[in-house]
Amino acid sequence: MLDVDSMLREFEVELQAAPGLDALQALRVKYLGRNGKITLANKSVNLGAMSPEERKAFGMEFNSLKRRAEASLQEAEDRVRAQTDAVEQVGFDATLPAASTHLGALHPVTITQIEIEDVFRGMGFQVFQGDEAVSEFDNFDALNIPGDHPARDMQDTFWLQNGMVLRTHTSSMQNAAMRKLGAPLRAIFPGRCYRNEAMDTTHENTFYQLEGLMIDRNISVANLIGVMKELIDKVFKVDSRVRLRPGFFPFVEPGFELDYWTTVGGKERWMELMPCGMIHRKVLEHGGIDPDEYGGFAFGLGLTRFAMIKFGVPDVRLLNSGDLRFASQFTASI
Ligand code: FA5
Repeated sequence: MLDVDSMLREFEVELQAAPGLDALQALRVKYLGRNGKITLANKSVNLGAMSPEERKAFGMEFNSLKRRAEASLQEAEDRVRAQTDAVEQVGFDATLPAASTHLGALHPVTITQIEIEDVFRGMGFQVFQGDEAVSEFDNFDALNIPGDHPARDMQDTFWLQNGMVLRTHTSSMQNAAMRKLGAPLRAIFPGRCYRNEAMDTTHENTFYQLEGLMIDRNISVANLIGVMKELIDKVFKVDSRVRLRPGFFPFVEPGFELDYWTTVGGKERWMELMPCGMIHRKVLEHGGIDPDEYGGFAFGLGLTRFAMIKFGVPDVRLLNSGDLRFASQFTASI
């Protein structure tokens, strides 16, 4: 008998591969023409030898095969014609301007980060990357903040079920940087940090910091001030004045808050910018660096805060809002 399914399958495979009207026409001849494969299937059997019932069944199968092949072919031809018509209707006008492509823009925090990275590269610092989910040791203990230390309360932490934490500060990369790069070292590590904060105009639960470490022989507070001043001058394009006030962080000794002199609302005043300090001996030891031979400074710059100052953004929450009306106002000046 006639194998309708396999013949139809073979036909459909060729139909799918047919690239255009000419190919479809050739297919019509090959299968449905006078000597076509489907047409001849009628002649491949001896109808005279069949009983009237068999003949009837065969006739129905054969007609169904022809109808289905014909319908598929017609549908394919219609589809190709419709596509060709659409192209012809639109036409091609070489004088029209090209369709514009929307390129998008860099986020203000990214712009600030790239600019700061450039300044530090110019001073011989390398950019070091780390994980956002880190061990409790990296985020706290390596930084001289053991489990019972009150400084742990300063940063309300998101703990993961596996005992790790979402890093509360980029200082969590200090230990890995020391172990990997060794002394002497100059590195900055930008990255996203998380704290369980009540959100307001200057506090987000997700924000960016940029940490910096310089470790060498004979590093003093003067080096720290020099590097910080260079950064502020370059990024804010001023000749800045900076000052240090005492600040407490268990991983630096002495620790400072760095302020810079600026104009806010028409008035000149000191503006708090970033915490910093000379790296604590214990932190160097945890990082495998001999504190009797080497010393250094560290700073933890609020990258998000820097971007807000640089671009005059009044509310930190705008930065993570994903609102394109906000984000598209900043064009990279890099
Ligand atoms: C720290 O995180 C220390 N790791 C910084 C440090 C590094 C000190 C190296 C000494 C040596 P602090 O919690 O103050 O410190 O945060 C540093 C900066 O991150 C702040 O000045 C601020 O600009 C920014 N920051 C902190 N919390 C938030 C927040 N919730 N939203 C936005 N920015 C924040």
